[in-house]
Amino acid sequence: MQNMRKKIVAGNWKMNTTRPDGKELAKAVAARAAEVPEGVGLIIAPPFTHLCCCGKQLEGTKVELSAQNCADHAKGAYTGEISVDMLKAVGCQWTILGHSERRQYYGETDEKLVEKVKLALGAGLGVILCVGENLDEREAGKHFDVCATQIKNVLYNFTAEDMQKIVIAYEPVWAIGTGKTATAEQAEEIHAFIRKVLADKFGAAVAEEVTILYGGSCKPSNAKELFAQKDIDGGLIGGAALKADDFIQIALSF
Ligand code: PGA
Repeated sequence: MQNMRKKIVAGNWKMNTTRPDGKELAKAVAARAAEVPEGVGLIIAPPFTHLCCCGKQLEGTKVELSAQNCADHAKGAYTGEISVDMLKAVGCQWTILGHSERRQYYGETDEKLVEKVKLALGAGLGVILCVGENLDEREAGKHFDVCATQIKNVLYNFTAEDMQKIVIAYEPVWAIGTGKTATAEQAEEIHAFIRKVLADKFGAAVAEEVTILYGGSCKPSNAKELFAQKDIDGGLIGGAALKADDFIQIALSF
């Protein structure tokens, strides 16, 4: 039986594009969005400074707007931070959380992520939570444990109902921006495992409905094979999301 999980292709622009470039990129994605089948959701995550301007380009299209991060406090004296209410007010429907670059370079811990997920859901934002192992962990055969621990530490604090607003992105750190993609089999193995870790807490029916994206050098040439796997429901795309044609091509790969 065909599952009814939502398929999603999300573009994580990271710290790329200035406001004028970003506006053009959002416009180009919006212009081709209607080619993408109804059952496939499209999300773009531009930098904070041009969320508003990119959001305007998406009006009247299916493309949804995401932030790349949010603060772990609701408001107040946290210089340099951006709150969930601020994101909501500029039209975000989503935020990415726990990206490996934030975990690695900005000290993002699972404890902080629990706070961020709570705040995001409380503000009505959907969450794309990233998990994944680094190269040492993969080579030591610890990738299952690492992903299970990240999921348990964060998501086991939430309810089955909350899970309806949470998407998971499995992103092996060794495949991000390196041109090395996990093979479709390697990715599927972990995706199926992640679904089992969710089923252990929330039950199989809930786990079956959770969208699990693959991220890490996903591009037009490998998206089809990855997306053909049973537990891979789309992609979180970095580099290839910076070209509208590549991004749309990936979304046409189901
Ligand atoms: P990449 O990045 O597609 O450039 O490998 C993916 C990500 O980090 O979201």
